[in-house]
Amino acid sequence: MFIRLISFLVLAGFYVGVGTGQPLVPALIIIGDSVVDAGNNNHRTTLIKANFPPYGRDFFAHNSTGRFSNGKLVIDFTAESLGFTSYPVAYLSQDANGTNLLTGANFASGASGFDDGTSLLYNAITLNQQLKNYKEYKIKVTNMVGRDRANEIFSGAIYLLSTGSSDFLQSYYINPILNRIFTPDRYSDRLMNFYSTFVHNLYNLGARRIGVTTLPPLGCLPAAITMFGGAGNNTCVERLNRDAVSFNTKLNNTSMYLANKLPGLKLVVLDIYNPLLSMVMNPVANGFFESRRACCGTGTMETSFLCNARSVGTCSNATNYVFWDGFHPSEAANRVLAASLLVQGISLIS
Ligand SMILES: *[C@@H]1O[C@H](CO)[C@@H](O)[C@H](O)[C@H]1NC(C)=O
Ligand SMILES: *[C@@H]1O[C@H](CO)[C@@H](O)[C@H](O)[C@H]1NC(C)=O
Ligand SMILES: *[C@@H]1O[C@H](CO)[C@@H](O)[C@H](O)[C@H]1NC(C)=O
Ligand SMILES: *[C@@H]1O[C@H](CO)[C@@H](O)[C@H](O)[C@H]1NC(C)=O
Ligand SMILES: *[C@@H]1O[C@H](CO)[C@@H](O)[C@H](O)[C@H]1NC(C)=O
Ligand SMILES: *[C@@H]1O[C@H](CO)[C@@H](O)[C@H](O)[C@H]1NC(C)=O
Repeated sequence: MFIRLISFLVLAGFYVGVGTGQPLVPALIIIGDSVVDAGNNNHRTTLIKANFPPYGRDFFAHNSTGRFSNGKLVIDFTAESLGFTSYPVAYLSQDANGTNLLTGANFASGASGFDDGTSLLYNAITLNQQLKNYKEYKIKVTNMVGRDRANEIFSGAIYLLSTGSSDFLQSYYINPILNRIFTPDRYSDRLMNFYSTFVHNLYNLGARRIGVTTLPPLGCLPAAITMFGGAGNNTCVERLNRDAVSFNTKLNNTSMYLANKLPGLKLVVLDIYNPLLSMVMNPVANGFFESRRACCGTGTMETSFLCNARSVGTCSNATNYVFWDGFHPSEAANRVLAASLLVQGISLIS
């Protein structure tokens, strides 16, 4: 009954728990790429960073924390909805110490992928290294609260994995060798192997509630239209969207298989493809007026260091833009995505 009431409140869009103490789960652990990175790339030698204006201009204190958006990420809204009063700290930031770690941590790194080879191209933190950092995190938490309490935290926590776009957009599509060796379908199979191994490893480390996001409509990202669309063609690149749909079907299949195989595991696929496509195709119905051009710079390409304080053309208010930069949704779009994910992920909470 209690759980049902909570579910109802969450579904109804209340921020249950905010300010009232107990979050719905003990901790939130984030693993993945720039869509969920909250600053782990800030001190790395990589071009893929977002710790300078105009990134974060609508975040608290206009702080460029390393989030690849103008404001909050999907996971920030998720953390609020689950009743946390702070966001999981970027594990490689100064803030990641002491009791801050007890409600979770964020291990994600911009430009990482399912395939460690993708991450290495950009000196991002590979998925396997993120897992190693998580192991180190577990030791720190265990030392703080003791084994029993720590294990409750690890098994009760929600683990969110969000990655894969970089494997396609920043590796497969632009690498002639990969392109020759693998069809998009075989490349997806290859990524599924990495995914499956990753879930096994995370499960063996104690995770029991895992959410994994699908690929977005890759062909609708402004930079993808610029890079892979026909000359003068302003519409989503169908070929890329087909690849994403096919990948997502495999992700669904593989996840069902893993959930059946691993006792006690809740593994939920969180669809971001359809909610984002809906915003792109019907912006006005979703409260937006611009879904082709991103806010930052010319809105056709700029991301990371190319989206900076000197970029010419940056919009003054991103509220009605689906995309903040060439690859990443605006805070406004992230809010819509988070609402959808919360409903889809409800079984992870109960
Ligand atoms: C900006 O964010 C960083 C990293 O999250 C944090 O350490 C710092 O205190 C924040 N600064 C302000 C002014 O809020
Ligand atoms: C975390 O480290 C910062 C400086 O790096 C320090 O100011 C802060 O007190 C530390 N917090 C905890 C909880 O240890
Ligand atoms: C633009 O893209 C659409 C969908 O991918 C395609 O049907 C159309 O032929 C393209 N037009 C041009 C001029 O390339
Ligand atoms: C997904 O699983 C179904 C049923 O097990 C199977 O028929 C289908 O071929 C699978 N699709 C992919 C893309 O693996
Ligand atoms: C995932 O697969 C299951 C069973 O094969 C199916 O019922 C469900 O609709 C699929 N979900 C998606 C998003 O494809
Ligand atoms: C952006 O526009 C929205 C409504 O269109 C408004 O509520 C908001 O205050 C504006 N933000 C800024 C920073 O001007």
